[in-house]
Amino acid sequence: MTDPLIKTPINHTSMNGTSKKDSPLLLDIENLSVTFGQGIRAFRAVDDVSLKIAQGEVIAVVGESGSGKSVTMMALMGLLPPSATVRAQRVVFDNKDMLSMSAKERRGIIGKDISMIFQNAMSCLNPSFTVEMQLGEVLRKHLGLRGAAVQTRILELLELVEMPDAKNRLKVYPHQLSGGMSQRVMIAMAIACEPKLLIADEPTTALDVTVQAQIMDLLSRLQREKQMAMVLITHDLGLVAQNSRDVAVMYAGQVVETSTVPEIFQKPAHPYTEALLQAIPELAIGQDRLNSLPGVVPSQYDRPAGCLLSPRCPYKEPACEVPPPILDTPNGKVRCIDSNITSRPSHAAILESQV
Ligand SMILES: Nc1ncnc2c1ncn2[C@@H]1O[C@H](COP(=O)(O)OP(=O)(O)OP(=O)(O)O)[C@@H](O)[C@H]1O
Ligand code: SF4
Ligand SMILES: [Mg+2]
Repeated sequence: MTDPLIKTPINHTSMNGTSKKDSPLLLDIENLSVTFGQGIRAFRAVDDVSLKIAQGEVIAVVGESGSGKSVTMMALMGLLPPSATVRAQRVVFDNKDMLSMSAKERRGIIGKDISMIFQNAMSCLNPSFTVEMQLGEVLRKHLGLRGAAVQTRILELLELVEMPDAKNRLKVYPHQLSGGMSQRVMIAMAIACEPKLLIADEPTTALDVTVQAQIMDLLSRLQREKQMAMVLITHDLGLVAQNSRDVAVMYAGQVVETSTVPEIFQKPAHPYTEALLQAIPELAIGQDRLNSLPGVVPSQYDRPAGCLLSPRCPYKEPACEVPPPILDTPNGKVRCIDSNITSRPSHAAILESQV
């Protein structure tokens, strides 16, 4: 862990997500930014991201590739390289201020109370160590287990993650496991210490559809049984709909909308969210083609001065040439000049009607 969390005095409206009113807050991140590099080559990969997660709650984080989903969570975990500067106004986990605690105190939380299933999980397993060695290390390091207790717990964990023929997998190396089995080992490592918060970064990418469904069912069962809060990072809005109550949508390093899942699907408030939904084939039944936003995410070194979506936004107005405000919506917030902008006729709809 190399990147220290630096407390910043910034004090403006934050893009806080929704959270269960009835459960105590577990994680409260306010205005977290990550900059890579220095001087003229410096770029902001994550820009004032705020997220709230209640105990036992599942929140999905969606957004296209490069939007800052993984970097945000890696910053929380303290796993970014030294070239990263992480700043935040507030990071409180389980009533503990992570900005003021020592590196040693932070290490006591990371990997134990907060754990992560990494994107490309299969390549995160050490090819030189058996399943037993990799799981055993977590149990010895974080829980102080020794001797037979380690062995017993490893087997328990493998059975918990429904590893086929668990007893005979203890001595195998990662290359002897299928993709689905490797993912089960990663999940076993992540839940070994019964974390209060599990970050699952694209947990089903690179698995075939049947195994994807099994892994999501497993994660969802463990989340419910263990009452873990979970951040589900995904590109798949189908997974969002099935597995989470709240959602945060990211674009170019910023959270652009937070809301509940039903609200996002029925009435997206941000043009980018609307575009994500319009790109789901299952929701485009009867259409000849999927609607998509023109252009690409602006380069790190060529960002527009105002709203980052403005070069691609069908609703763009002169007012969008300055950074947009953060407005309240019925169930969250939106970063746009209008909290109900997607109810206006979009360019796509206008073009469609002219055909
Ligand atoms: N170690 C690093 N050094 C420099 N830039 C980085 C580093 N890690 C990530 N980035 C940049 O930060 C931005 C956000 O990356 P991030 O990995 O968070 O995207 P993501 O939303 O998780 O995308 P994906 O869906 O493809 O996983 C990208 O522009 C990426 O190139
Ligand atoms: S602020 Fe303007 S450009 Fe940005 S999303 Fe809203 S309408 Fe589009
Ligand atoms: Mg990622």
